[in-house]
Amino acid sequence: MTSDGGGGNGLQPGSSTISEVLRLSTAHLAAKGSETPRLDAERLLAQALGLERIELYMASNRSLTPLELDAARALVTRRARREPLQYVLGEWGFRRLTLAVDSRALIPRPETEVLVERALALIAGLERPRVLDVGTGSGAIALAIADEHPGAMITGLDSSEDALALAAENAARTGLTVELARHDLFQGLPDGPWDLIVSNPPYVDAADLPTLQPEVRDWEPHGALSAEGAVEAVARGSVAVLAPGGGLALEVGAGQTDATAALLTELGLVEVRVTRDLRGVDRVVEGVRP
Ligand SMILES: C[S@@+](CC[C@H](N)C(=O)[O-])C[C@H]1O[C@@H](n2cnc3c(N)ncnc32)[C@H](O)[C@@H]1O
Repeated sequence: MTSDGGGGNGLQPGSSTISEVLRLSTAHLAAKGSETPRLDAERLLAQALGLERIELYMASNRSLTPLELDAARALVTRRARREPLQYVLGEWGFRRLTLAVDSRALIPRPETEVLVERALALIAGLERPRVLDVGTGSGAIALAIADEHPGAMITGLDSSEDALALAAENAARTGLTVELARHDLFQGLPDGPWDLIVSNPPYVDAADLPTLQPEVRDWEPHGALSAEGAVEAVARGSVAVLAPGGGLALEVGAGQTDATAALLTELGLVEVRVTRDLRGVDRVVEGVRP
């Protein structure tokens, strides 16, 4: 009945009420290194039972059927292997959307919601802006802009067929229209002119990959995390294809904003500014082609 040290999930026959399953799952996930074991346990059990989290508390004394216990066990076992909660759940919220997420693409992050905020500001007032999302991954940025700026004509590029397939699934599930294309950002960017180029390029230094949390290091695609020179390639590629007055918005790593802002200035962009993410870390760099 306690969390085991092996490959189990802490849930044994007899651990049958919702509150008991939550208690045991939480202990097990904590022992396996989750930083958010209670939240994880609640999200996983809610998913297994087809309930909202709040409903777990309203029914905390209800017993699970053997089938329900099996379903909960399967999810907790995956999370205990440090598979990201988002991949285990299979979907995750981004801005106003709920997107499918799996190991084909990076999990959309809260800091990228700030990038979208700045991107939307750069096209505010334009009726039919042409928008390019470089390294679209799950399609999160492209789809959020399509959702929040109706009329925008958006193209999402990625070099990964897997990511593009997931982005297409997300376009279908959200009912939003974006064009998706396979393209290598190191080959320059497609002719615009674009009113906005937005990108969350791979920006982790390859040497830092081994130091990342297991959830990131062992499960997310390394090609989405790290590609040397990608930030610079997007910036240099953008100036050639931005419309006059068009904006570029880039998400970069902690400590990379000064160099990126200097690069945008060197490339002739104006109104260069840096925005912090929700944790107060300088994160988004933008500029405008005069
Ligand atoms: C940090 S992820 C961003 C994913 C998504 N835009 C988001 O913000 O959640 C970077 C994306 O760039 C793509 N990528 C990596 N190298 C690339 C290249 N050479 N050309 C085009 N896309 C590339 C990866 O496949 C990945 O989807």
